[in-house]
Amino acid sequence: MFQLNLDINHFLDVYWQKKPLLIKQGFADFQDPIMPDEIAGLAMEEEVESRLVYRDEQDKWQAEHGPFTSFDKLEQKGTSLLVQAVDHWHEDAQQLIRPFRFLPNWRLDDLMISYSSVNGGVGPHIDNYDVFIIQGLGKRHWRVGAKTELNEFTAHAALKHCAAFDAIIDVELEPGDILYIPVGFPHEGYAIEPSINYSVGFRAPDQNDLLSSFTDHCIDEQDNCVRYLDKNMQHREKPGKIEAHELIGLHKTMLESCQTPEQLMPWLGKMLSESVHDLDIAVCDEAHSNTQILALFNEGAQFTRLGGLRAIYFEQDADFIYINGTQYNCSEFNKLGHHLCDQDEVGSELIELLTENENAQNFFTFLVNSGYWYSN
Ligand code: SIN
Ligand code: CO
Repeated sequence: MFQLNLDINHFLDVYWQKKPLLIKQGFADFQDPIMPDEIAGLAMEEEVESRLVYRDEQDKWQAEHGPFTSFDKLEQKGTSLLVQAVDHWHEDAQQLIRPFRFLPNWRLDDLMISYSSVNGGVGPHIDNYDVFIIQGLGKRHWRVGAKTELNEFTAHAALKHCAAFDAIIDVELEPGDILYIPVGFPHEGYAIEPSINYSVGFRAPDQNDLLSSFTDHCIDEQDNCVRYLDKNMQHREKPGKIEAHELIGLHKTMLESCQTPEQLMPWLGKMLSESVHDLDIAVCDEAHSNTQILALFNEGAQFTRLGGLRAIYFEQDADFIYINGTQYNCSEFNKLGHHLCDQDEVGSELIELLTENENAQNFFTFLVNSGYWYSN
């Protein structure tokens, strides 16, 4: 549906995580997959995360969290409505993720959509993720600065801003233009006309995210908990001292559970496949049988992975796949398992993979009956 005009290898070599890029007409003849009233409709829902950002009469930044019942503020200039994880809720908007599948599933965060009245924006800020900002409806003026140390401050409890910066990109985005902004580069955008922007974000975990999640996992898995031992204790002249070999021993005890990257896989697979935002899971009213699903494939049906559902596997371990925070053993049908992780949509090519193994059929049927894959 959306064809990305970009030399991907050149982009990865020169720009990805290195410097910002304006991709003029990255999507030629761009048609918005969602209308402003649908964006507002999503912002009325309890499960959907949304924000209204504007400046008040005193020119002070304000932010309100959804769900909203009124959008009067958007009638005024200088207001933005931002809706998170729209790929989880809107099938056509979700299509905007697909051109970016040249990046791995596990790096994708979500599709955030903003609708801004004239002059609307969230102010100068630095994001902790890489983002492709696609211009839909209207025009928006964007500025991006160099990655330098900039003072950051709280403009409002829900808005972190950065100090003014000189622009290395200063551009008026038109429908179909894409601005790639790597993590850490300051930027700001203000609507010239009522505007829709689509942000496809890629967030990598930082050290603290990894360590805190890993620690939670270790606490859950108490059984494997190793305690520091010192059977060769010697009489100590200086009891206040922690000796060098003791520090090494403590360090070793900590590392015991993560000596090799492979040890991390069960935890990482679950953690990286967990969705940060709610999923729109519709469990089938009537469970499908294997035969019914095979018949649907034979009739040419396509099954789509639920928007926002994460499905991943490790190169080092063909036996397991991870879907939505759960590990599944697919040692008997790993081709099917991997195919489901790699493709957003599957069709008749699955027939062969399903018919060679009954457990493969059971597994796919389970995924469909769980609402994880669906057919229209
Ligand atoms: C917006 O669309 O207003 C915000 C996008 C961003 O700055 O990351
Ligand atoms: Co930003």
